[in-house]
Amino acid sequence: MTRRIRIFDTTLRDGEQAPGFGMTAEAKLEVARQLSKLGVDVIEAGFPAASPGDFEAVRTIAETITGPTIAGLARANEDDIRRCYEAVKGAQKPRIHTFIATSPIHMEYKLRKKPEEVVRAAREAVALARSLGPEVEFSAEDATRSDWNFLVQIFTVAARAGATILNVPDTVGYTTPKEYYDLIRYLIEHVDAPEGVQFSVHCHNDLGLAVANTLAAIEAGATQVECTINGIGERAGNAALEEIVMALRVRRDQWGATTAINTREIYRTSRLLQSVTGIQVQPNKAIVGANAFAHESGIHQDGMLKHRDTYEIMKPEDVGVPESSLVLGKHSGRAAFRARLEHLGYQLTDAEIDSAFRRFKELADRKRTITDHDLMAIVGDEQAHRTVTEVCRLESFQVVAGNERIATASVRLVREGEVVQEAASGDGPISALYHAIDRAARFEGQLLDYRLNAVTEGEDALGEVTVRVRAGDRVASGRGTSTDVIEASARAYMNAMNKILSGAALAVSDDPAPGWQMRAYGD
Ligand code: KIV
Ligand code: ZN
Repeated sequence: MTRRIRIFDTTLRDGEQAPGFGMTAEAKLEVARQLSKLGVDVIEAGFPAASPGDFEAVRTIAETITGPTIAGLARANEDDIRRCYEAVKGAQKPRIHTFIATSPIHMEYKLRKKPEEVVRAAREAVALARSLGPEVEFSAEDATRSDWNFLVQIFTVAARAGATILNVPDTVGYTTPKEYYDLIRYLIEHVDAPEGVQFSVHCHNDLGLAVANTLAAIEAGATQVECTINGIGERAGNAALEEIVMALRVRRDQWGATTAINTREIYRTSRLLQSVTGIQVQPNKAIVGANAFAHESGIHQDGMLKHRDTYEIMKPEDVGVPESSLVLGKHSGRAAFRARLEHLGYQLTDAEIDSAFRRFKELADRKRTITDHDLMAIVGDEQAHRTVTEVCRLESFQVVAGNERIATASVRLVREGEVVQEAASGDGPISALYHAIDRAARFEGQLLDYRLNAVTEGEDALGEVTVRVRAGDRVASGRGTSTDVIEASARAYMNAMNKILSGAALAVSDDPAPGWQMRAYGD
């Protein structure tokens, strides 16, 4: 009999907690939309008590995204749980996820509580959460370094107090497949839980075993797995969603289990996350890395040409990897362009097609081969800009730089109908350009982060720039794509600046950028 495994995605909570992966509220919403398209069962949207920004992001996702359950994390105390409920209550299917540490080291040094006090806190937290909403998940933090009989006791108490899902985190990535299998079996056999209570697992990757441990737990009977896109998360990350899902699919013979994931959305979800965080996966990353389906050696290529199955256990198209050969050219028309986007899974309005088509034509003048990767980058860039009110529009710019002179830039932009021209110098071409834009827009921006990535290979590759900009007490991220990296940099900065000028940016105190997790976990 095939078992259905529930996918609990924690990219927006555990993933976002990792340094460098902080996302603004609007980026989180965009990722949540894509996770819903991907078909995850649960989106853990954040930790509402961590900051007002996190609360707002969870609330917005709960009120906007339909389909998956929307969960929020809460420590086992009344304030966190009530705050979490306020954030998730607008969801079609809300869930409160409460946790407390159960290992001797955490109880003694972090919580400074005796085991019986921890059990009491768990019981009260779950009972309160259950009085507010129908679905409550309870996690025993650092479960894999906890006493097994203590886990049986606390999970039994939590289930009787109303927890509907019992989660067994390998918080520090310490366990092994065999040990985790035995622990999950032991808990399933000994916890006295009402019918229907699910066992869930949550693995970190400190020893590179997160996916293997998760699969072992599925074999042992776990029916919910917690994971993140691209495996992002605290330290070495969490178990990677795409690896678990494809292992279950490719080796159905081993696990006899399925998920509701639309695997053709995997690549797009992975790319979106890379683009909103500005952090790329390594080329050899399983399933979504640039080399995951590339065959370099002569022997492999020869085998592939004779029969794909010689070296391919899954097809790139199964996970939605676009074709990297030429797909459209300079002379392609609007209908072919629209058809190709539809083939890639985009449903755009006529106005959106018009504007993306204009970008495509500009690109076709500059770039010899246009691939699906390029089309996805254009649409991603358009999406990033379309959702922001354009208070300022950059009409033109010029930058002069060299190793023996000071970089200078001049810009011409339109701010609320007024055309302004300004020039400035800087340490390099980008800083000169950003100073000139600041002057012309009467904006005092501080560049907090700047990242440049190539979308495809080759000299005429598209460059994708992501920035984080602060002005006064506001902070925003921006994205820009172009074959010219200076132009991509200008677009990214304008994108962030317009968010701040139009009032769509976060307050600095709510910015979930690197460092916020220190506030969140300080119990
Ligand atoms: O790793 C962990 O223990 C967690 C819990 C809060 C579920 O992320
Ligand atoms: Zn975790």
